[in-house]
Amino acid sequence: MTIIDGKAVAEQIKKEIAEEVSRIVADGGKRPHLAAILVGHDGGSETYVASKVKACEACGFKSTLIRFEDTVSEQELLDKVLELNDDDDVDGFIVQLPLPKHISEDKVIEAIDYRKDVDGFHPINVGRMSIGLPCYVSATPAGIVELISRYHIETAGKRCVILGRSNIVGKPMAALMMRKAYPGDCTVTVCHSRSKNIADECRQADIIIAALGQPEFVKADMVKDGAVIIDVGTTRVPSALTKSGYKLKGDVKYDEVAPRCSYITPVPGGVGPMTIVSLMRNTLLAGKKAIYKD
Ligand code: GUN
Repeated sequence: MTIIDGKAVAEQIKKEIAEEVSRIVADGGKRPHLAAILVGHDGGSETYVASKVKACEACGFKSTLIRFEDTVSEQELLDKVLELNDDDDVDGFIVQLPLPKHISEDKVIEAIDYRKDVDGFHPINVGRMSIGLPCYVSATPAGIVELISRYHIETAGKRCVILGRSNIVGKPMAALMMRKAYPGDCTVTVCHSRSKNIADECRQADIIIAALGQPEFVKADMVKDGAVIIDVGTTRVPSALTKSGYKLKGDVKYDEVAPRCSYITPVPGGVGPMTIVSLMRNTLLAGKKAIYKD
């Protein structure tokens, strides 16, 4: 059994990006610039955005954090999005989700210029991804594909079961694993809250990608010997043992599942570190105008 070390791969990729940025700047090119909009003071969002800013530093990017109180109106937020769309110094930007209930996330995402949508959430990027055109792929699915590829895990003809049908993970993951490419070429089954016999589906799987947000949902008796397990779960549960007062729990009962697997991602240290690095890679592509030329 091999534990997939997402933290080490993420560090390696950050180094590769930083080296490329140094070369670009040394050749007189522009340092990539990521802006992030953060609304309110949600603990999880604060942590994620702080990690994104820190990763920008490690990669040699310029970053700008724009904060709003959670009383900001939808129009004020949309105005800021339009301003960033028109700001030639900003190569890419993100609006950290979730947003307060009085603001439509769909409206905000659709207002972002798809050429600067480094989160890959805009319908144009989602649509292009699903038909295999160059685009920004959202961070978590892109990170998972990168891990599978860096560990040379075989995917062609394999049965891949995806648990969860979210727009951010489940749906794009299904599109990527079924595409005619590596990683991909899988026979994909997507299970969700209304699926029957999820355990039976999982037992058939060569690859399970668990993105339900239900801690320890996948048990040993749901996993075939030699399966590949990718755990996307990051539920915060209270813990007296950590300084922060919580710890992250995956969707997989790691201790009992790991001995059965060929490969498994731990939580933390598996998929998590890769998501931020995928955003960094999209920002580098945006800085280089590598996907959309104008
Ligand atoms: N909230 C949780 N994950 C993400 C993400 O990848 N991007 C943004 N913008 N918000 C999130």
